[in-house]
Amino acid sequence: MSRVLHENLSLKPYNTFGVDVKARLFAEARDDAGVREAIDLAAQRGLPLLVIGGGSNLLLTRDVEALVLRMASRGIRILADDGVTVLLEAEAGEPWHPLVLWSLEQGLGGLENLSLIPGTVGAAPMQNIGAYGVELKDVFAGLTALDRQTGELREFDLDECQFAYRDSLFKREAGRWLILRVRFKLSRSPLLHLDYGPVRQRLQDEGIGSPSPSDVSRAICAIRSEKLPDPALLGNAGSFFKNPLVDAELAQRLRGEYPDLVAYPQADGQVKLAAGWLIERAGWKGFRDGDAGVHRLQALVLVNYGAATGHQLHGLAQRIQADIVAKFGVALEMEPNLI
Ligand code: EPU
Repeated sequence: MSRVLHENLSLKPYNTFGVDVKARLFAEARDDAGVREAIDLAAQRGLPLLVIGGGSNLLLTRDVEALVLRMASRGIRILADDGVTVLLEAEAGEPWHPLVLWSLEQGLGGLENLSLIPGTVGAAPMQNIGAYGVELKDVFAGLTALDRQTGELREFDLDECQFAYRDSLFKREAGRWLILRVRFKLSRSPLLHLDYGPVRQRLQDEGIGSPSPSDVSRAICAIRSEKLPDPALLGNAGSFFKNPLVDAELAQRLRGEYPDLVAYPQADGQVKLAAGWLIERAGWKGFRDGDAGVHRLQALVLVNYGAATGHQLHGLAQRIQADIVAKFGVALEMEPNLI
């Protein structure tokens, strides 16, 4: 249980953008009972409930008139192990990257490409986190969630989660499901995913011919550290926009105009464009207005140089969106949840 309760607490330490807004009520849940208590308390006080994990996918634009519940449940356990495939379960409040490191220390492969992603285990399925050719869905075995409408626990398998690019049932039915713990299918003889050029290149440069999952993890940590700002040093929420899907016709037209357009054809005929390329090409990379800016090394990342408000960051995002529509006819969708 153990629930810490504060009134009008600053959420600055609880969102990686470092935006300073207050929560009307703030609580932490260390287990399922703590979660239920918080739900009851929110109902008693007539407040909505806002559940957060690591706060790495949030843009808070004003004080939050809600009970903000931070998931702080901990625990990692191996549920099954046949010598090759291992079923691992982690509580929602476990920080993501330490879980990846822990699994690698146990000799388990599967999570290495998802190294250094900020956030928590419980938040990972919400947007089906992904990087360097692997998405959560590729290692996902199941999860347990609380149905906030009925108070019942429900188990979800892979299909039921309806995972898609940075999307899931839980994101679509926002506010209904509260993820309590997640299960992963890992392997003692993993298949490595090295299709993403820079990862292979990095390993080659380091003279690593037959990499282990830990080698891949180290390479990915190095690549991420070079391009993506550390939220502890510079407020940010990772990629601020999704890479947009456009129809083949528009992609072809853009390609004609911009031969260096970065585009990835999809199985369904659509084409995914690199939003970072579009934003850089439109001249926004390194742009700064007050304390809100576009990272100078990765145009897909908006940053808070210190005192930017969520409102200012959102304003900058909207200016970029309008400009990308005007210049390329492409709509960019925000990745973080706007509160
Ligand atoms: N690019 C530019 N300019 C930029 C940024 C990117 O031209 O400022 C070009 C790159 O040169 C490259 C292409 O865009 O050709 C793709 O760039 P990159 O490989 O850096 O990946 P991304 O599309 O910018 C996505 C994810 C990241 C993930 C990386 C690696 C999304 C929204 N973002 O970024 O995820 O780490 O691929 O797999 O899909 C996140 O979601 O927070 C995140 C960091």
